[in-house]
Amino acid sequence: MSDQFGLDSLSVDGLQARQGTKWARYPGDLAAWVADMDFPPAPAIVQALREVAESGDFGYPVWQSKPPSPAEEAFVAWSERRHGWQVDVADVLPLADVVQGIQLVLHTCTAPGDRVVVHTPAYPPFLSSVEKTGREVVRLPARRDDTSVTGWAFDYERLDAELTARPAKALLLSHPHNPTGHVFAEAELRLLAELAERHDLLVISDEIHADLTYAPHVHRPMALFAPQRTVTVTAPSKAFAMPGLRYAVAHVGSPAARAAVAKLPDHLLGTVSLTAVAAATAAWTSSDEWLAAVLARLDANRHLVAELLAQHLPNVGYHVPAATYLAWLDCRALGWGDDPAQTFAQRGVRLSEGPNFGVEGHGFARLNFATSSAVLREIVERMAT
Ligand SMILES: Cc1ncc(COP(=O)(O)O)c(C=O)c1O
Repeated sequence: MSDQFGLDSLSVDGLQARQGTKWARYPGDLAAWVADMDFPPAPAIVQALREVAESGDFGYPVWQSKPPSPAEEAFVAWSERRHGWQVDVADVLPLADVVQGIQLVLHTCTAPGDRVVVHTPAYPPFLSSVEKTGREVVRLPARRDDTSVTGWAFDYERLDAELTARPAKALLLSHPHNPTGHVFAEAELRLLAELAERHDLLVISDEIHADLTYAPHVHRPMALFAPQRTVTVTAPSKAFAMPGLRYAVAHVGSPAARAAVAKLPDHLLGTVSLTAVAAATAAWTSSDEWLAAVLARLDANRHLVAELLAQHLPNVGYHVPAATYLAWLDCRALGWGDDPAQTFAQRGVRLSEGPNFGVEGHGFARLNFATSSAVLREIVERMAT
């Protein structure tokens, strides 16, 4: 595989010298925890940031008084080109981050005591966002199922019965699903849309990992199936390795949510910065080649994880994810208790702790494989020492 963008040329020494939280938080350890890629950024993003710096004009951006910014326009074009989803730019709200968008919708469109359905195990801020805003999580547990194309399945009949007995207000979707890497297929999205209609649910669809879906799996935006009920939150931060630049969007398709958000005071959400907009625009307009190379590297890595585990940690269960650069490791057979990441940390490798993803994460750990093959090899070898 050619390595035009230096994706496979990373070394542990170089990574450990970085200032970002992934490598700086646990000095000396190997970092495979937070969902941040190690790869060098897309050249177009670096160039766009350089142009902002060299312009010498750091005044208020024009989109503060006259939205949209070029990044929202780029999001609209990207959504159509990559996902066949036509978006009206007037429905796109720029934000600093995706979890902000989720909490914004929970605050404005649900009330304390309302119930919110979440596929579990769940990205930890899903659980904390629901709980800390005084709402209640309705768990929809994933089970391993080798007849499912992604290896995972959910019991929607049981959910239907549960919602009939005790209604909920919203469905908070991680689409694709972090941490299992499950991609919701069209039939499943139709079923979810039907359930949303029958039980009057607002759907908050977090699609931040959408552009990290491996063929032949295809990402289909939830808004295509429940356009009037969905708020989509997404960002270029995962696919384009730029979470520190702080740019995200909410597409507020639901008219009820739009009305609720419109009542917020003007400045509550702030204004997106010059650098965030420049980087997001470059990601969505001029970084296709870089993203294709990243997907090829990640595709090889998701299979390399399987090989390395078979060789070094054969008792760890792993199903190759259909999307994301996250490996959800079933460590229950190791007999290390609820939080196996603690034992891996003692060996000098930092993974995300399974119990933070809810009770379904007990005995699990999440490994981030968005790094070079050499560093990934070192990570799994050290996990086994
Ligand atoms: C499903 C999901 N949503 C949101 C985020 C975080 O996004 P942000 O930093 O924009 O809040 C992550 C990061 O790992 C994620 O996996």
